[in-house]
Amino acid sequence: MKINSNNPEKKGRNKKCGEIVLTFASLALVLAACGSSSTASSNPPSASATSGNLTWWASPIAQVGIRADLISNFEKAYPKIHVTLQSAPTNTDTNRSQLVTEISGGSTSPDVFMGDVIWPAQFGAHGLAVPLSKYLPSSYFTKFAPGLVSGATYNGQVYGSPLFEDQGFLYYRKDLLAKANLPVPTTWSQLESESLTLEHDGLVQYGYVWEGASYEGLTCNFMEYLASAGGTVTNSTYTKANLTSPSAVKAVTFMRSLVTSGASPAAVTTFQEPQAMAVFDSGNAAFLRNWDYAWSNSQTPADSKVVGEVGVAPLPTFTGNSYPGYSNIGGWNLYINPHSKNLAIDLTFIKWMSSTAAQDILGKTYSEIPTVESVRLALASLSSTPPPLKIAAQTKLVPRPAGTPNYPALSSAIYSNVNSALSGSTSVNAALASAQSKAATALAGGI
Ligand code: GLC
Repeated sequence: MKINSNNPEKKGRNKKCGEIVLTFASLALVLAACGSSSTASSNPPSASATSGNLTWWASPIAQVGIRADLISNFEKAYPKIHVTLQSAPTNTDTNRSQLVTEISGGSTSPDVFMGDVIWPAQFGAHGLAVPLSKYLPSSYFTKFAPGLVSGATYNGQVYGSPLFEDQGFLYYRKDLLAKANLPVPTTWSQLESESLTLEHDGLVQYGYVWEGASYEGLTCNFMEYLASAGGTVTNSTYTKANLTSPSAVKAVTFMRSLVTSGASPAAVTTFQEPQAMAVFDSGNAAFLRNWDYAWSNSQTPADSKVVGEVGVAPLPTFTGNSYPGYSNIGGWNLYINPHSKNLAIDLTFIKWMSSTAAQDILGKTYSEIPTVESVRLALASLSSTPPPLKIAAQTKLVPRPAGTPNYPALSSAIYSNVNSALSGSTSVNAALASAQSKAATALAGGI
């Protein structure tokens, strides 16, 4: 494995790629041969797909080690394939815009990219990813957990091979709740009041930390409150936005109250996942909203002062009788650059990433929810499995409205305005009116 830094423009292609140069015309033939197997191990792909080089664009997401771990295991299974890692930005928005610039500029690198689950419509509509379903048989896609493949599909083609799923969870400090004799909160108002109690009792500096910065992660948090309040962002055909609904007002009013009451620090309006996780892991917050992978960070002594003190539960709701609350569906897929010269190798890599070996690494070591249903079920029943994977089946899931190619502008309409309301620079109603009007423009194809 080689590791490159962020800018693929500056990285030379490995000349060995020439050994397996394929034109798109010849690809279909080669891939018809290798694409008929559901996994590399059960039916090895053609010889042309077992040697060569590929560049893989992937962000650290959970922990830096995750990518090297996967690559070294892949290279053990395919000793004649060499993978060069291109380290992508952690922020999904920055990550996407860099890739869009590269790929729309015709760059042949990266070959394979780890991309967000919200990208298929945009990337599919604009020719920024290879339609995998043209090269992989439908039997390949049946092993994934229900819903993941349809989420990776746009206009009848599957663009992403699900790598891992993320769901939002509530992390809490077991020791602090025990000291204050408080239960794990099941409603949002209980979470707020317990946060204030723990702060006032001097047990912890901050109550609840989450992702409130002006970026995609805030849309994810907003979706959870919105669904809990019974709302949706758009109608089912993406022709109308619903962002001034009473549910949206309820959601953002509550989010803002977390800041004004002091249950959350004002700085949450600048937190992305790593900052929220760092405050919790340093022992300075009682509660954290984050993805499944935050478990592995919280239990890694080098990253965390709260090893052994952390519990995980589904997110709360607005009304206790509807517990558990909604978790947004996140996660990352593997996509292929349409300009890649290594499509057969790329497919070998992608297929290996959905093998039991790869999915076990993601689940057991990094507490990422496996996308392959059989691995997910097997891990959920093991006592040593990270807790988020065990309770993943209990959560209610809400997807983002990412079925439209205009999702980036739609999400930006949400997170930029909700962030203004959180920081108090705009009232909740004015922020939602602005979000509604920007969302309408986005749905009409504008930005
Ligand atoms: C996580 C999720 C991804 C989401 C992002 C937001 O990486 O997996 O789907 O867009 O967080 O920050």
